[in-house]
Amino acid sequence: MSLLTKTIVGSILLFIAFCFVSSDIFPSSCELNVLIVLDRSDSVKGGFNRSRDFVLNASQELNIGPHAHSVAVIAYSGKRYPRQILPWNFAKNNEEFYKKVKQLRSPGGTTATREALLDAYVLMESRNKSIPNVIMVVTDGQSQDVPTDAARKLQ
Ligand SMILES: *[C@@H]1O[C@H](CO)[C@@H](O)[C@H](O)[C@H]1NC(C)=O
Ligand SMILES: *[C@@H]1O[C@H](CO)[C@@H](O)[C@H](O)[C@H]1NC(C)=O
Ligand SMILES: *[C@@H]1O[C@H](CO)[C@@H](O)[C@H](O)[C@H]1NC(C)=O
Repeated sequence: MSLLTKTIVGSILLFIAFCFVSSDIFPSSCELNVLIVLDRSDSVKGGFNRSRDFVLNASQELNIGPHAHSVAVIAYSGKRYPRQILPWNFAKNNEEFYKKVKQLRSPGGTTATREALLDAYVLMESRNKSIPNVIMVVTDGQSQDVPTDAARKLQ
């Protein structure tokens, strides 16, 4: 899973970069739904703060707003820990995104990636279906549940 995740993160950053480079050629392609699935267990290497700051750093490439990037975040850890869901358009702009994501804390727990991806599937139902999507999964930990079927369902 962690290899897959790194690949996903890599291609998304690439995609977002491409979107920016070509923004004055294809402005309409820069409308995107961006769903971030963030492991907030402390098993993440370097602690949760490091993954959270990675997302904050990457969000500088985003352009959150109407007719641009629409974002949602699922922060998760173990099965018995409630997942925190920031729904589509919880942030109207980059500043609001930064503020709200910076407030996320680790409750501890393990890494139930499959459960989080099933939530992601439900959340995708309420996206703006007329624009393309990217899903970014940020985890370094080993999942306690096998996420393969949930990941397939999302594709
Ligand atoms: C994580 O960051 C928060 C502030 O964003 C800070 O209060 C907390 O002490 C940090 N935790 C660790 C383990 O560094
Ligand atoms: C985020 O960016 C800052 C400044 O460029 C850098 O020092 C830091 O290591 C980055 N953090 C992560 C987790 O990538
Ligand atoms: C979805 O995106 C389209 C294309 O930008 C836009 O015209 C429409 O208003 C959006 N729908 C909602 C519900 O935001």
